[in-house]
Amino acid sequence: MKVSIIGGGGRVGSNAAYALQCAGLVNEIALVDANVDVAAGEALDLLHGSSLAGDQRIYATDNKGVADSDIICITAGLRRKPDESRLDLINRNVTLYKGILDSLRSVNVRKDAVFVVVSNPVDILTRLNIEYLSWPEKQVLGLGTVLDTTRFRSLIAAARGLPPTQVDALILGEHGDTMTPIWSSATAAGMALTKLLTPPQQADIFSRTQKSGAEVIRLKGGAGYAVGLSIARVIHSIALDQKLILPVSSRINGAYGIRKVCLSLPTVVGRHGVEGVLEPELWPKEIAGLTASARTLEETWTKISGR
Ligand SMILES: NC(=O)c1ccc[n+]([C@@H]2O[C@H](COP(=O)([O-])OP(=O)(O)OC[C@H]3O[C@@H](n4cnc5c(N)ncnc54)[C@H](O)[C@@H]3O)[C@@H](O)[C@H]2O)c1
Repeated sequence: MKVSIIGGGGRVGSNAAYALQCAGLVNEIALVDANVDVAAGEALDLLHGSSLAGDQRIYATDNKGVADSDIICITAGLRRKPDESRLDLINRNVTLYKGILDSLRSVNVRKDAVFVVVSNPVDILTRLNIEYLSWPEKQVLGLGTVLDTTRFRSLIAAARGLPPTQVDALILGEHGDTMTPIWSSATAAGMALTKLLTPPQQADIFSRTQKSGAEVIRLKGGAGYAVGLSIARVIHSIALDQKLILPVSSRINGAYGIRKVCLSLPTVVGRHGVEGVLEPELWPKEIAGLTASARTLEETWTKISGR
């Protein structure tokens, strides 16, 4: 199982590579970056630990070296500035992302390759990946709200002194300003979180989740570890055909009346990518949140389509 990370010299890409190395489940990790030296340096640093971590092949390469990948993870991009919304990044990142897709087209990547889109605005770039490359939509998924969901669970656990792995709560919709907390099904070890947390506590935790990205950028320049683990979780579900249900971003074809856009709903992730999108029963205000995400993303898509 070969995973290539385009943008692998950057903070997100190199942290994802490290998470994949520590887990030892995929056997080949290739890093590609416009900054050739930094990709070579990250690959070398990872390789130096391979006698401790596992028998994986880890190296830096160029776009030609991506052609035989099973999974192509794209983290190349420009970082969000503090106080800049993810959608504001769009004009800077769409051109860059199209350039990457053009170069992948020219090296003839495998037709069964699954794309994992991480660069922001991730929901827009996931759709761009499908439409610009005419790639089968099931083979393209975005990291979506996987990171927001782990932030949400971890912050809930920290606030209530609960074990984080036993908190089960989702963020769905856009990876951005309209992301929606799903309290209707949120539990910790089977206990309803709406009973364990007061409405002001719920509002506070969600607000901190929503602002987490900006807070990490302000404090250390950008997200790394948690997003690396999030990417590894998605890639492992593909590589091992685990069929985990994850809030990745994918093309929505009618769930909750939403069509055309890519956004996060509970999604079965297996060897071929998206293997099903679930439509659990939600509170009306949660469905309204998803509809607002869809509207925002469609408006943004219309703006970039005219470019
Ligand atoms: N989806 C999510 O949950 C999530 C979370 C965090 C960050 N991100 C996004 O990930 C992206 C990367 O963030 P980062 O902190 O790693 O930034 P970074 O600046 O550390 O790394 C980006 C890397 O991309 C490389 N790059 C730029 N253009 C390239 C090209 N054409 N081909 C190959 N490589 C190229 C740069 O050289 C750099 O090494 C951003 O768009 C950021 O917003 C997404």
